[in-house]
Amino acid sequence: MADSEAIITENLTRDFKGIHAVNHLNLQVPTGQVFGFLGPNGAGKTTTIHLLLGLLAPTVGTAKVLGYDIRSAAGKIRGQTGVLLEYTGLYERLTVEDNLEFYGRIWGMSASERQARSKELLGQLGLWERRKEVVGKWSKGMKQKLAVARAIFHRPALIFLDEPTSGLDPVSASQLHQDLRDLVRHEGTTIFLTTHNLAEAEQLCNLVAVIRQGQIIAYGSPAELRSQGTTPQAEIEGTNFTPALIAALKARPEIAGVNLKDNLLSLDLTGTSRLAPLVNLVVEKGGQIEEVRKGRKSLEEVFLTLVTENKKSE
Ligand SMILES: Nc1ncnc2c1ncn2[C@@H]1O[C@H](COP(=O)(O)OP(=O)(O)O)[C@@H](O)[C@H]1O
Ligand SMILES: [Mg+2]
Repeated sequence: MADSEAIITENLTRDFKGIHAVNHLNLQVPTGQVFGFLGPNGAGKTTTIHLLLGLLAPTVGTAKVLGYDIRSAAGKIRGQTGVLLEYTGLYERLTVEDNLEFYGRIWGMSASERQARSKELLGQLGLWERRKEVVGKWSKGMKQKLAVARAIFHRPALIFLDEPTSGLDPVSASQLHQDLRDLVRHEGTTIFLTTHNLAEAEQLCNLVAVIRQGQIIAYGSPAELRSQGTTPQAEIEGTNFTPALIAALKARPEIAGVNLKDNLLSLDLTGTSRLAPLVNLVVEKGGQIEEVRKGRKSLEEVFLTLVTENKKSE
């Protein structure tokens, strides 16, 4: 069903002088998702966005965005999407409200629509009181907030945000995360967001694809990715973890591996086994326990595992 997918790519490929910047990409982004396109620098994220907007022609393959073919209907796609690429697209010498006014006119919005939308978005972003200020004097974080407002001003059905927090200090980045979450809840649009920051994807996205060297190496919800190919872990902090104690742990069927580093005993578990019997065993063998934690790998650890595993198999 075309309508349930905001984006579908089929073998989408773009070469640059022998590099497969985007390499036979088959990707689906359902309508209404906050999709995170996650990958290290040079992975092919920006090139993919350029292809999806018809700003670059594919070498091989094709894609549909909002039901339109990127080769034959790029104008329609650009008319119904909002885009924030590397540049904010803001006019530094204009005031905040004049910037939005300018874009509203380009999108053919009426004067009353422009005013209402300005008030709504600037209000949500906490910028309404500052609407008369000249943008050039603003901090990078505030400009980036306004750039997001600019990109979504005309209520596009789909928004592309290319590394929206890149170059922001941690405080401004986390404020923008909060704003993006609020906007998503309020506007309900489909978002295609690229990032090399895994914590960002984990916070903002409900669907994630990991891209490396132009190819997708993982796809799913952050929770699915986290559980992909990983083992549950337990950590026991303490002292007196003797070789005999470690040997006894290794002999247990529910333990796949034991690793001792300083005062930290890390256990790889074979399933979601209960920890109590293992804790008892440690105590029986003379271990002095300070703290016990059940481990859950973060998306970052899973991502790193995936990337290194794929490297090894090359
Ligand atoms: N216009 C271009 N000419 C030549 N190579 C390019 C061009 N744009 C991107 N590339 C190359 O394609 C690969 C993917 O780049 P890009 O899509 O910008 O990655 P990302 O956005 O994930 O950092 C990189 O190796 C990059 O050097
Ligand atoms: Mg990029």
